[in-house]
Amino acid sequence: MTIDNRGELVVLPTPAALADEAARRFVELAEAAIQRNGRFAVALSGGSTPRALHQRLAQPLPGTAVDWGKIVVFWGDERFVPPDSEESCFRMARETLLDYVPIPAANIFPVPTVGGTPESAASAYAETLVAQFGSQAPRFDLILLGIGPDGHTASLFPGHPEPSAPGDRLVVAVHNAPKPPPTRISCTYRVLNGAEHVLFLVAGSDKAAALHEILRGPLAIGRLPAQGVRPERGKLVWLVDQAAAAQLSEA
Ligand code: 6PG
Repeated sequence: MTIDNRGELVVLPTPAALADEAARRFVELAEAAIQRNGRFAVALSGGSTPRALHQRLAQPLPGTAVDWGKIVVFWGDERFVPPDSEESCFRMARETLLDYVPIPAANIFPVPTVGGTPESAASAYAETLVAQFGSQAPRFDLILLGIGPDGHTASLFPGHPEPSAPGDRLVVAVHNAPKPPPTRISCTYRVLNGAEHVLFLVAGSDKAAALHEILRGPLAIGRLPAQGVRPERGKLVWLVDQAAAAQLSEA
């Protein structure tokens, strides 16, 4: 079901079914991109919701063979903490997926969160994106995102500079984030909306009010940054569980 250009909504009965569907789509998109471009460039998300997807992908899925040698992994955002920190999105991905699949270390591009400032990390990561995509407009094959109960996505938070007045940078440093830890690095809409596919994973009743506003409410990107994700030449899909969809009357 498509609601103006806010993307396709797919409601799954449980978080487990959501993770299964997300894994199925990841594998399908990977196979298609590798056939088309010889590689699959994906940006992972932080938070707890992607864990189950990662765990599905870490186990060989029946009847499919993911060519991990041709997959390149980035992050849509990262917390400005050391890579071995419990709060690190890189560490979460390593422990739930990357340590279990035959992906070359050279294909993994974590945000550099050690030995510099958040600003230098943001510009270094922007340079990495430009270098790896050979363009000032990186086009991911897939970007995975979540939302917070406040309508944030990646590390684009309500009332913060980037969602309110998008600039032309690819990656920004974020300070005083309302969700701990307060200092983060985030890809901007320039990257998110340049993707071929964007997949939101949303589970749990605590997201129902925000999801309703994001998908049904008036456009208010500064207040609901997830509304700013509208791939210009790409497909936007919301995979949500029944609990998160509870306020979407038609669900
Ligand atoms: C982060 C994320 C953030 C996350 C949402 C949802 O690093 O925290 O990038 O945007 O996706 O806050 O988090 P949960 O999946 O834990 O609900």
